[in-house]
Amino acid sequence: MKFITVDTYEKLSRQAANIISAQVIIKPDSVLGLATGSSPVGTYKQLIEWYRKGDIDFSRVTTVNLDEYVGLSGKDEQSYRYFMNKNLFEHVNIDLANTFVPNGCAVDLAGEGEQYDAHIKALGGIDMQLLGIGHDGHIGFNEPDDVFVKSTHVVELHESTVKANSRFFANEQEVPRLAITMGMVSIMQAKKILLIASGKQKRDILEKAFYGPITPRIPASILQLHPDITVIYSEE
Ligand code: GLP
Repeated sequence: MKFITVDTYEKLSRQAANIISAQVIIKPDSVLGLATGSSPVGTYKQLIEWYRKGDIDFSRVTTVNLDEYVGLSGKDEQSYRYFMNKNLFEHVNIDLANTFVPNGCAVDLAGEGEQYDAHIKALGGIDMQLLGIGHDGHIGFNEPDDVFVKSTHVVELHESTVKANSRFFANEQEVPRLAITMGMVSIMQAKKILLIASGKQKRDILEKAFYGPITPRIPASILQLHPDITVIYSEE
């Protein structure tokens, strides 16, 4: 594991974007696993800037996102599909048909999960997975549990996650209680993982996740077993 500490969020974003753009330059048809939340916003901004300068080409890239709220369509401003379109996809030359986010409105959510995993497998797996980390150690929406859940599945969000994510909604009541998230197999089978976290309030969970015991009570701790993971942490 490489653990990089920087002082500012801007540096974190530039370094993460550097790593992702190197991946796309070396393998133009990369399958990128992407994340939502506040942490990757700066990284996406930087990638857009470099795309505009002609330094990075997304025309052959495929993306698979980690998760989506159950019941929100892609048109809903709080959905992760909407977030991805607004924060990255609409600003670069990616073919939207090659961008995948779990469908939180699928009638058969279990079937959607199976299809999502099969699709990732058919793509040849994820070349590089970008991750954030929740305050309780969740990755994607894999919440603390008695077991690591392997496949893409529906999850009931914990109260603390609902609270943390309510900052994107008008109020806490509007936050969906269910989400569909990639499970640990697709994440752990990514060839490379890049986890970003910013702010002193994330330091404690990073320490537990990367230097403590591997336990499903801290879902991100499983990443200690990954052979090629880079963590970038900014104090700001
Ligand atoms: C959400 C997302 C996660 C993300 C986490 C942390 O719960 N499902 O993928 O890592 O938030 O978000 P932030 O980066 O805003 O702290």
